[in-house]
Amino acid sequence: MEGEREPLIKRRRTGWGAWRRSERAYRPSASDVFALSSVVIGGILIWLFAASHVRDIHRYPHHPPQRKYDGEHITWTFCDNFFDHEVECANLTVPMDQFNATNNGPDNKNFSIPLIRMRGKNATDNINILLNPGGPGGSGVEFLYRRGKQLNAIVGENFHLLSFDPRGVNQSVPRADCYPSDEARREMSLVRDKRAIQDSGELWAWTSGHVKGCVDTMGVHGSYINTPQTAADMNSILDAVGQEDMYYWGFSYGTLLGQTYATLFRERSKRVIIDGVVNQFDWYGSILDREELADTDNVFAGFVEECLKAGPEDCALAGLAKTKEELSKKLIASISKLKDEPVGVYVNATIHGVLDYWAVWFGGVFPALYKPANWRDLATNLAGLLQGNATKAFLAYGQDGPWDLPGEPNEMVSLNDGASGPEKWGSINNRAALVDTLLELFNESSFHENSLSHYFAKQAWVMPRGHTYVPKKGVQTAHPLLVLSTTYDPVCPLVSARSANDAFVGSKIVELKGYGHCTLALPSLCIARHVRGYLSEGKLPESNVQCDVDGKPYFAKPDEDGKALVGVKSLDEEEMKIHLAQLELARDSWFTHR
Ligand SMILES: *[C@@H]1O[C@H](CO)[C@@H](O)[C@H](O)[C@H]1NC(C)=O
Ligand SMILES: *[C@@H]1O[C@H](CO)[C@@H](O)[C@H](O)[C@H]1NC(C)=O
Ligand SMILES: *[C@@H]1O[C@H](CO)[C@@H](O)[C@H](O)[C@H]1NC(C)=O
Ligand SMILES: *[C@@H]1O[C@H](CO)[C@@H](O)[C@H](O)[C@H]1NC(C)=O
Ligand SMILES: *[C@@H]1O[C@H](CO)[C@@H](O)[C@H](O)[C@H]1NC(C)=O
Ligand SMILES: *[C@@H]1O[C@H](CO)[C@@H](O)[C@H](O)[C@H]1NC(C)=O
Ligand SMILES: *[C@@H]1O[C@H](CO)[C@@H](O)[C@H](O)[C@H]1NC(C)=O
Ligand SMILES: *[C@@H]1O[C@H](CO)[C@@H](O)[C@H](O)[C@H]1NC(C)=O
Repeated sequence: MEGEREPLIKRRRTGWGAWRRSERAYRPSASDVFALSSVVIGGILIWLFAASHVRDIHRYPHHPPQRKYDGEHITWTFCDNFFDHEVECANLTVPMDQFNATNNGPDNKNFSIPLIRMRGKNATDNINILLNPGGPGGSGVEFLYRRGKQLNAIVGENFHLLSFDPRGVNQSVPRADCYPSDEARREMSLVRDKRAIQDSGELWAWTSGHVKGCVDTMGVHGSYINTPQTAADMNSILDAVGQEDMYYWGFSYGTLLGQTYATLFRERSKRVIIDGVVNQFDWYGSILDREELADTDNVFAGFVEECLKAGPEDCALAGLAKTKEELSKKLIASISKLKDEPVGVYVNATIHGVLDYWAVWFGGVFPALYKPANWRDLATNLAGLLQGNATKAFLAYGQDGPWDLPGEPNEMVSLNDGASGPEKWGSINNRAALVDTLLELFNESSFHENSLSHYFAKQAWVMPRGHTYVPKKGVQTAHPLLVLSTTYDPVCPLVSARSANDAFVGSKIVELKGYGHCTLALPSLCIARHVRGYLSEGKLPESNVQCDVDGKPYFAKPDEDGKALVGVKSLDEEEMKIHLAQLELARDSWFTHR
């Protein structure tokens, strides 16, 4: 929705991500109904609510709405029956400061954390695997609704899957907000933040107020919205379900949470899987994260290379150049041209506007690098653009960014965790110095430019620090970590997996030979076998190993990408189920930035 003039729409903090608007299919389900009907407040109200969910109630007449289990210290509410698996919900109250009760005051300041659990059908040992989807602002509740079915297929029926909205995120209370109301956010979050030099004056001035607003909106709770506190919350969750050992699978930012947990609570870290790894030393200690995007350009190069391999029939860009160098140059030239000469697209009176560089590069290309299953469409949209018809690209990327969620939970967690605030930034204490520093970073890869407003806020951050955590090396956990990574991940490069591998004694890397963000980006039975073996028996490879991708991962015809394995006799029923689940995960472009 960017106008012809330089837009006054603040681009959302894409640097720290959020959700694809079109993919937001949260299912509130029957949970609210049962929660309400369990409160006896009069027949009429119960009947009214029940009436709209008659089907659900008839389907599960024997499920009591409230559930307690032996050995647990929490009351669950029956929430849903999800692909034939029972789903239960609860809210857990955790202390505001997990590490120093004095700070919670006489009124027991706290956060309320929503939990969700999908019960395994044969989880006779009642082991819960905790999941975090990334973000940091990712909702675990939504994650389980969207991907619980497929993750259950991968880990099998012997485990329950348990996730949660981390403190500050989505339905947890209080939530991380920098504005007291949505209206205030709409009015005051407008700022130009695209061009490092031209926009820096306005951005610098705006940021000084924005960061104060975060502190004043959150009050004393704000400082405690950070990863070490969330790691401690995971112990509160384990305690509530009466489980001593941590079983965990974290993706993207979830790997930062997993590493933090494993460092703080090594004796409980029995099965920790980190998938698509964040460098914890940079996250907590560096003012600039240079490593984060170390492979983004390599993934883009992979897109171009695989496109030419696939040929014009499967990649619409393939006919436009002979070599990958030529195609890459052409693409970058055409897209960069949109910086100063955006194109106008007119469909009809309700759909028209402007397609610019930022929409295509950060709203189209960058998110597609996470999921090779999207490459075919990306190529089609870009081919139109290169050939002078921007309609498809405009419809796909021009109307709104792919990330759509107030970025404040992401921002607050990462800035509270990291080297934020003028003191940490030392001599970089004025606009000119900040811009110079960032231009140098942006020169390493054009994908860094998306973080302009993030770094302005990081430099100016004034929220008092609420943790003293420092990552360590040589960490010996109850059982070594399993580290998963693709070879080329656009936001969590393999080199960061190596740094975790170095920090955690005995940990092993299983590398999936391909492109994409986290191993969920590509189907691989080999990965699933490693995950299962690790979870059930603690099995780790003797040394770091690689796994192949199954089938044809890049530029496959729709619905043909899995055919290489479907119908193969040697696959048993269970393997086929895992394979199909992985294909669904690979196609699902719901994701967090990190
Ligand atoms: C959790 O708390 C929220 C309010 O913060 C409420 O709407 C929801 O019903 C509660 N969920 C359960 C399972 O009690
Ligand atoms: C806990 O917090 C209180 C109040 O902020 C402080 O005085 C005390 O030193 C802290 N205790 C520890 C062990 O950090
Ligand atoms: C959590 O905080 C709320 C709001 O301050 C308070 O009313 C409630 O009593 C606290 N809960 C617990 C269990 O301490
Ligand atoms: C259930 O789990 C037990 C071990 O925990 C296993 O022996 C049994 O085969 C499993 N049953 C099914 C149906 O998967
Ligand atoms: C947060 O929770 C709301 C209400 O349940 C839901 O509609 C929404 O999709 C969730 N958003 C995210 C980003 O998780
Ligand atoms: C414009 O096009 C869209 C998509 O084809 C359509 O849904 C919409 O009704 C059209 N609006 C008008 C005013 O024609
Ligand atoms: C451009 O592409 C759109 C969508 O593919 C198509 O409807 C339209 O006719 C094309 N315009 C021109 C001028 O070719
Ligand atoms: C970095 O600077 C060099 C030299 O000025 C320039 O050629 C190159 O294109 C720049 N790279 C990026 C990604 O901006």
